[in-house]
Amino acid sequence: MGDKPVILVTRKLPQAVEARLQRDYQPILNPSDKLYSDDELVELSLDADAIMPCHTEKFSAELISRLPKNIKAIANFSVGYDHVDVAAAKAKGIIVTNTPDVLSDATAEIAILLMLGAARRASEGERIVRARKWKDWSPAFMVGRQVSKKRFGIIGMGRVGQVVADRARGFGMEIHYYNRKRLSADLEKGAIYHETVEGLLPNADVLSVHCPATPETTGLLNVERINLLPDGAIVVNTARGGVINDDALVAALKSGKVYAAGLDVFNGEPENIHPEYIGLENVFLLPHIGSATEETRDAMGFRALDNLDAIFSGTEPGDRVA
Ligand code: DGY
Repeated sequence: MGDKPVILVTRKLPQAVEARLQRDYQPILNPSDKLYSDDELVELSLDADAIMPCHTEKFSAELISRLPKNIKAIANFSVGYDHVDVAAAKAKGIIVTNTPDVLSDATAEIAILLMLGAARRASEGERIVRARKWKDWSPAFMVGRQVSKKRFGIIGMGRVGQVVADRARGFGMEIHYYNRKRLSADLEKGAIYHETVEGLLPNADVLSVHCPATPETTGLLNVERINLLPDGAIVVNTARGGVINDDALVAALKSGKVYAAGLDVFNGEPENIHPEYIGLENVFLLPHIGSATEETRDAMGFRALDNLDAIFSGTEPGDRVA
């Protein structure tokens, strides 16, 4: 091998990102885009200086303990890094980075799509048309909920939450939010701050989740908290499935406590999501595509590469999380 650092790239990345990898590094690419097992990741790491993974590779403490000493960094192609045991990485001296900011617009688009899809019964309507079951029109047909001028509640007013708030303002919605820290007035833009999730929930006709998955947020939206929502609220999740207690949400969707949900992320995704979501008419389901636009996927790759460039030039990467 030459003197350019060797980067293990776990998934197929956009062409422009792979071209920059090839120009500046010696990448071990994955043209078939297969999902590697832990054993394969360890094996492929033997010759690598860093790994550029996605959230699809779970870097547990056990896997990290098996990585060879030559691995200096895990430069994630994702803003979320709940798939990496950062404490284990830190203990082993492995730098961990993520890709914030660049996916906020794309994820906000999907949050709004989910809100509208859930409120206006888009999934149900689409199925009726495709199955050629659309036989009539009447004022009573496919009536949904209007979101304009309603209250939009946000858990987690970070980068994505703030962009989603801006988009929801376009519908004349009143923005309420819970965040660990209150935003400054210029970022708040008139949004109403709640010091607790419990304080926010009764004010959320639409609730959109934008907090990271951490031990503290696991199962955050449980039976007790769902009961604090206004009757007939809409729940949107583009963050991580773990933030929602699925049994609680399914029960609320069945009882009508929650009118509808729009979900892009799931516990057990992709193959083991809660089976009852599949049969419920009032759920609008997408397969974790919040950041799936050409612009954003390029930008994520470039941001991960900026972090690697800093690491291998001996400077501090901009997006270090461990
Ligand atoms: C992210 O960047 O965290 C997205 O969920 C894709 O992994």
